[in-house]
Amino acid sequence: IAPIVRNLAELRTMVRQWKMAGEVVGVVPTMGALHQGHLSLVKAAKDGCDRVIVTIFVNPKQFNNPEDLENYPRTEEEDAEKLASYKVDAIYVPDGDEMYPQGFNTNVSVSGVTEDLEGAHRPGHFDGVATVVTKLFLQTQADKAYFGNKDYQQLQLVKRLALDLNIPIEVIGCPTIREEDGLAMSSRNLLLSDRARIKAPALNAAMVRAAERIKAGEDIAKVLAEASDEVVRAGFIDVEYLELRSVGTLSPMSEFAEPARLLAAANLAGVRLIDNIGVDP
Ligand code: PAJ
Repeated sequence: IAPIVRNLAELRTMVRQWKMAGEVVGVVPTMGALHQGHLSLVKAAKDGCDRVIVTIFVNPKQFNNPEDLENYPRTEEEDAEKLASYKVDAIYVPDGDEMYPQGFNTNVSVSGVTEDLEGAHRPGHFDGVATVVTKLFLQTQADKAYFGNKDYQQLQLVKRLALDLNIPIEVIGCPTIREEDGLAMSSRNLLLSDRARIKAPALNAAMVRAAERIKAGEDIAKVLAEASDEVVRAGFIDVEYLELRSVGTLSPMSEFAEPARLLAAANLAGVRLIDNIGVDP
């Protein structure tokens, strides 16, 4: 079983030794409640690095809703068991005071790519992500970091901040892992009732159908409006957004002529689900 490191000084000592031996260090930042999506990142990190650190920290700064923070699943023991078979080198589980000691007063804020979509619906969320990811990069001193396409806008933010702040780390995006019925794996899926779980795949199903219609040349606005209606008819409370954007920059597209991303957020029985898929001409 991998050592659980709760203290930054201890982490730095381990990493210093690895680096002195010329080893490539990878990091997989998570908030725990690990599932196959997280574990696919761990696998990619093991394949691409000599040493792998998985971080588990439920970051209070990125929760714009206190109830969401309180309900967020915490399953440290099971997480450590799941990681055992991957032979990771350290599980870094900093406590709140280690991350945000008394007097903490710095905020990392990335503009542009964060302003719309998730950014518009979750005030402060991306500042919280940018701040903690910057800290995790500096704390672990990793050479490579692995993130999922599941949180596509977050991945673009992280690439931007590493570039802008000259953090010497390679940010690697990995495919979204799904349940057999198409539902994107997410720690929040644990919060779905059995009834809601049955309805949940409707979001991805509507997105896949919409992508096909857009590729076939149908009117984008019409297709997106109908897909949104379809999701609500399937039992979701509402659709916060369902939009086609350019890859990378996430800027709005009036016509479908370049590789695009279809991104959505929707609420199902009190649980907020997000998903996104690629749409290529
Ligand atoms: P968390 O939601 O735990 O996700 C950790 C990483 O796993 C992210 O890079 C996310 O995109 C990836 N991931 C989640 N579900 C996935 C799936 N179904 N397939 C592939 N990858 C998946 O994202 C966060 O935590 C936090 O914002 C964090 C970056 C750790 C900062 O606090």
